[in-house]
Amino acid sequence: MERLQKIIAASGIASRRKAEEWITEGKVKVNGQVITELGTKVTGKEEIEVNGNLISKEEKEYYLLNKPRGIITSTKDEKGRKTVVDLIETNARIYPVGRLDYDTTGVLLLTNDGDFANILMHPANEIDKVYLAKLKGILKKEQIDHLKEGIELDGDIVKASRVKIKKVNVEKDTCMVEITIHEGKNHQVKRMFESVGFLVEKLTRKRIGIFQLEGLQSGEYRRLTPKEVQIVYSYEKK
Ligand code: URA
Repeated sequence: MERLQKIIAASGIASRRKAEEWITEGKVKVNGQVITELGTKVTGKEEIEVNGNLISKEEKEYYLLNKPRGIITSTKDEKGRKTVVDLIETNARIYPVGRLDYDTTGVLLLTNDGDFANILMHPANEIDKVYLAKLKGILKKEQIDHLKEGIELDGDIVKASRVKIKKVNVEKDTCMVEITIHEGKNHQVKRMFESVGFLVEKLTRKRIGIFQLEGLQSGEYRRLTPKEVQIVYSYEKK
């Protein structure tokens, strides 16, 4: 939800201050109703009329970013640190789809399309989120079975749909493991490994659904194609 004056200003017809003036003067309608309250919040999906003209809604934008380490996954930071949104050149009010930790790298989608983001994040749609984790220690079969059978996090059972050991370094006592999950709880992969006794030293998201990095260097991004957006919409379970 956003303030009405912010949505009007974002449509490009006036500054936020001018939009506030129009609201208090009774020149703004939301879904046909005059709104004069400045704090009014809207989703951006409403019909908004200003001085008798409908304002055009923001075009939908979709990006795939290779998130670098040391950047926060948020639209704003109180401490003024750089966020993933700052890496993308656009005036649209985009936001990240789900979260990657400060030290996690890899596939991150950003958009201003709430329906698109919800489809990707809803566990019922069973969209693969594939991570490559470097673990301290060497994972054993019984721990892999435990991850697949399910682990309780925040009162829910979460399961790895696939776990594959990619590399083992006996000397350094580390291993590289690929794990596929369908949910997106906070720190989910780190907490799942922690619950079977392993510390994650490094974490990269390799894939979400059809989206992989395909040559994007750290910090690089590209727009999604209309076909890719359509594929995400087709993931939604009716
Ligand atoms: N799981 C985590 O623990 N961290 C991430 O950044 C993403 C998934």
